[in-house]
Amino acid sequence: MTEPDTRELLARQLTEARERTLRLTDLDEPELLRQHDPLMSPLVWDLAHIGQQEDLWLLRRGEPARPGLLPPDVEQLYDAFTHPRAVRARLPLLPPVEARAFCADVRGRVLDRLDTLDPAAGDDPFDFAMVAGHEQQHDETMLQAVQLRSGPPVLGTGAPLPPGRPGVAGTSVLVPAGGFVLGVDAADEPFSLDNERPAHVVHVDAFRIGRVPVTNAEYAAFLADGGYDQPRWWSTRGWQHRCDAGLERPMSWLPDGSRVRFGVREDVPGDEPVQHVTFFEAEAYAAWYGQQQPGARLPTEVEWEKAAAWDPGTGRRRRWPWGSTEPTPALANLDGAALRPAPVGAYPAGASAYGVEQLIGDVWEWTSSEFTAWPGFTPMLYADYSAPFFGGDHRVLRGPSWAVGSALARPSFRNWDRPMRRQVFSGLRLAWSA
Ligand SMILES: [Fe+2]
Repeated sequence: MTEPDTRELLARQLTEARERTLRLTDLDEPELLRQHDPLMSPLVWDLAHIGQQEDLWLLRRGEPARPGLLPPDVEQLYDAFTHPRAVRARLPLLPPVEARAFCADVRGRVLDRLDTLDPAAGDDPFDFAMVAGHEQQHDETMLQAVQLRSGPPVLGTGAPLPPGRPGVAGTSVLVPAGGFVLGVDAADEPFSLDNERPAHVVHVDAFRIGRVPVTNAEYAAFLADGGYDQPRWWSTRGWQHRCDAGLERPMSWLPDGSRVRFGVREDVPGDEPVQHVTFFEAEAYAAWYGQQQPGARLPTEVEWEKAAAWDPGTGRRRRWPWGSTEPTPALANLDGAALRPAPVGAYPAGASAYGVEQLIGDVWEWTSSEFTAWPGFTPMLYADYSAPFFGGDHRVLRGPSWAVGSALARPSFRNWDRPMRRQVFSGLRLAWSA
């Protein structure tokens, strides 16, 4: 890519992220200041944190000792490692008007820097993409907060989606045994994050994987069969959590078969991928499903990535499951506009080389894998993005979900969370050893 093309792409990514942020925070001041749930920050914290991180990584090249646009005592309020989410509403945060003005000030300076991007002077286009991606990730986080909020809806019901196809739920495809290239390098994916690198060959035994994610109707059968009352389907830890947290059904489902989605009450659509389940619930569902098809389990993240990215015909990775075309609304449900996953079978053109559908977009999918570094891992400029989380109590989710910007929709993208979390737009897909 030539330098003007790179600059234009980065400016577009930054602008798209900012448009989403401003739409999501176009709310009355009390809504922005309120902590809607102890798991989430008040939206006004996310807003100013977006600007603070942009100031740190792009205007100060990641050196916190260099003076930023905020006084140090204000800037430290936006350090995610210092202040847990549950206490952020009690901090003396910038009011919304000042937070918006600060973000706009930073952005103006960043776009000026981008205009004169000079790799010889230490400017790295990657850093700009990383910051645009960080903002997109907070846009998804803000959607999680709005989902947990009570009160009249503020986002509407979402943009239309293509219809599903009957007959795809519950079907699976075979991925034969063999090696493939796991992960990516900067040369193929210049904006991939540190934990996606480096590319390396791994062997994967043959497995089957769900053609589409598990649907609400399929998951409801687990409920109807008393799945939440039978410890035999749950891991010891999962059952303990199910009891302690009083889990009875996916988050936001009501006992009468309806759900609340961004404040709108509606029937749970049977053909949509189930979302808002913990890793423990995903695991229990798979164990229960094993009665019908023995050996049902969650895929490993390595299996997932092979099913998504590998093309056995060419012996190479595809950039997206369907090939080399940038994501479009006909290929995947991304960018947050729909406010929900699409029904299964909605994207036949988005299938991977193996025929697996809806890997990109719709729901984050829990995998059985713990979050670890690929061999040869090297931290990026934002060195604490991945490394502090390796080996912790996290499971990897693959996707991304409908709530994620297209710029982050790569088969190599890795998300992770604690196994009891379900405010995430998280669902599952089944797998079997073959
Ligand atoms: Fe952040």
